[in-house]
Amino acid sequence: MRTQVAIIGAGPSGLLLGQLLTRQGIDNVIVERRGGDHVLSRIRAGVLEQGMVDLLDEAGVSLRLHREGIVHEGFTLAFAGRRHRIDMKGLTGGKTVTVYGQTEVTRDLMEARQVAGASTIYNAENVAVRDFESVSPRVSLTKDGMPTEISCDFIAGCDGFHGVCRQSVPLHAFQEFQRSYPFGWLGLLADVPAASHELVYANDERGFALCSMRSTTRSRYYIQVPLETKIEDWSDEQFFAELRLRLPPDVAANVTTGPSLEKSIAPLRSFVVEPMRFGQLFLAGDAAHIVPPTGAKGLNLAASDIRYLFDAIVEFYLEKSTVGLDTYSTRALARIWKAERFSWWMTSVLHKFPGNSPFDERMQRAELEYVEKSRAASTVVAENYVGLPY
Ligand code: APR
Ligand code: PHB
Repeated sequence: MRTQVAIIGAGPSGLLLGQLLTRQGIDNVIVERRGGDHVLSRIRAGVLEQGMVDLLDEAGVSLRLHREGIVHEGFTLAFAGRRHRIDMKGLTGGKTVTVYGQTEVTRDLMEARQVAGASTIYNAENVAVRDFESVSPRVSLTKDGMPTEISCDFIAGCDGFHGVCRQSVPLHAFQEFQRSYPFGWLGLLADVPAASHELVYANDERGFALCSMRSTTRSRYYIQVPLETKIEDWSDEQFFAELRLRLPPDVAANVTTGPSLEKSIAPLRSFVVEPMRFGQLFLAGDAAHIVPPTGAKGLNLAASDIRYLFDAIVEFYLEKSTVGLDTYSTRALARIWKAERFSWWMTSVLHKFPGNSPFDERMQRAELEYVEKSRAASTVVAENYVGLPY
């Protein structure tokens, strides 16, 4: 099989790149090791920066997003019995974010790809990327027991943190940067109305809590839990009781309980690989970087990677220029590191760190009180949350 761009991974990164390339008339094949239903079953974040909304508009997949997505102009930080609203719109000259689940973004992209008749090989086994340092890279895989090979011009490694692409690069060719956090997030999804019309991030003595939503009738909640927590340790009732204890009283009183549609525990990690390009192999999204979910940046960083990579591939085919390809890694990493900083900062100031010294506790409180009292500090939070320029 021959294509121009072989994309490994049918998550948001791979599907978005595939959709943009297909609309541009650039041939591409997506190779995904799981089935489409499994990809859709993964519950992830749900806050889209305007840059991502714009890219989904350009990809022609934003009809439902504009119909069902909820525009948010601010969010609340709750700590020490007080609350501080970050007025994103007011502090950034009108910028906002849109609440719309990643699952829905993935569904919209999958449906668009099906309509376009573009090729996605689901349930691919033994996927391997070969000769990507040459001008004739290849992807090999097994499908229904049949070995298959795809020759291409470029390979887009959109296969997430546990994917094969980054792991196929020789160790001497890249450097990894990472930090693991000494806690996880227990998340619960339920068909209950939101406790607050905007997101509430709570720093409480008992630990972090977050009130988010997917729609006016479907809510998403998180509480910080110790790393060794098992999902069976937490009934729905215990989750809601603990959540309420960590929220401001009026928000807690507004929490409607209901049976969980999904409940899962995620570890928190900061991770970046440098560079993101290896010959004709380009890493994008979680394959190249991970952020703790506190800043809601994971999906949005995947979007800016895809913006840069798509533009570079189009420039190559239309203008026979490699400038975009040659600068992809540097451009993407400049934005990635700023989002890593913001996600690390939000995580550092909002969670209860086991082993924090009294001094550390005072530093955390001082950070939050500085944001509370300083318009400049609140503006820093606002402009990072809505998304720094591409
Ligand atoms: N071969 C083919 N596909 C693979 C392989 C492989 N060896 N390994 C992983 N995959 C697939 C996974 O099954 C998954 O569907 O690659 C896809 C990667 O998708 P994501 O992990 O969602 O990564 P990405 O598309 O970059 O999206 C980033 O997803 O995990 C969230 O928080 C993250 O919001 C961010 C977004
Ligand atoms: C979510 O809605 O899942 C969500 C929102 C904001 C975050 C993290 C997750 O920071």
